[in-house]
Amino acid sequence: METTAEAMKAVAAVGEVFGRRFELETFPWGADHYLKTGVTMPPNGYAMLRDQFDAIFIGALGDPRVADNRHARDILLGTRFELDLYVNYRPVKLLHERLCPLKNRSTADVNFVVFRENTEGLYVSVGGRFKAGTTDEIAIQEELNTYKGVHRIVRHAFEFAAANGRRSVCMADKSNAMAEGHALWQRVFRELAPQYPGIQPRHLYIDALALLMVQNPAQFDVIVTNNLFGDIITDLGAALQGGLGVAGSANLHPGRTSMFEPVHGSAPKYAGTGRANPVGAVLSTALLLEDLGHAEAAAEIERCVAKTLRDGETTVDLGGKLTTSQVGDRLARMIAAPQATRA
Ligand code: IPM
Ligand code: MN
Repeated sequence: METTAEAMKAVAAVGEVFGRRFELETFPWGADHYLKTGVTMPPNGYAMLRDQFDAIFIGALGDPRVADNRHARDILLGTRFELDLYVNYRPVKLLHERLCPLKNRSTADVNFVVFRENTEGLYVSVGGRFKAGTTDEIAIQEELNTYKGVHRIVRHAFEFAAANGRRSVCMADKSNAMAEGHALWQRVFRELAPQYPGIQPRHLYIDALALLMVQNPAQFDVIVTNNLFGDIITDLGAALQGGLGVAGSANLHPGRTSMFEPVHGSAPKYAGTGRANPVGAVLSTALLLEDLGHAEAAAEIERCVAKTLRDGETTVDLGGKLTTSQVGDRLARMIAAPQATRA
């Protein structure tokens, strides 16, 4: 996918400036490969990614030729589950006020992070269909919530808040309607919050959170929620920062090989047109570099992205005139020559 190529240009450029050579290995896994070979991921694929690499970058998946999206499930969800990447970290940060669909918001008003539980919930494929295809069909999809799973993501949210000077952690669930599974979230949140006395705990039902994210996003610092709710509100979050084209994400297991991907899908209707916005993919590489301990390199990528947005050097989705690779080249040049663009 085109945005991945642009993201790798940014990594190469930042590596040069910071005196690091990142060795890049590319795997062909995706819809083409699956249609040709019948294989989504080779049997040793997950273990190889985990054991032989420092970080994984996955481009957007999804192809109309694979109606059931099997390849996307195996590659993306498979990597999340098999590598136990329990933290889906999705920053929602407005880099230029022009990109916000809300009236009169400054960049300071949209600057929070979402931690989405990434290994359980409604994504575990526990369930089944009975009398499928008939008018008596019954379809069951179970939501899995474990103490360990809920505890580690909620704890991660508090730890992140404490380490990054954030003031509050908001846990969102639907415990008013889902009294069993989400009672566990309530219990864990009540257990952990007192261990972080400097951080204000807050609970919202997920529907109220969606409303407040639009009405007044400035009140949020750190949000933690389950897999499906996190999926939905991070698309909403992407909209607040300028659309799916600008949102990056990380799938982490702290201390282990983690995986990075843009929030956007493959947008098949834009394939090959040069209209895809590479910024989400590029910002995902910033999260990757941050995870590998190169915080300065990550900050530099974000600085250059913010400058292109400010200067209107964007793809058409953001009102600019540049193609995918023109934006990528522009970013790579800016990263390679930082003194030329530093204000
Ligand atoms: C995302 C995507 C995936 C998800 C899909 C492609 C399965 O929407 O990363 O947000 O639901 O997690
Ligand atoms: Mn999603």
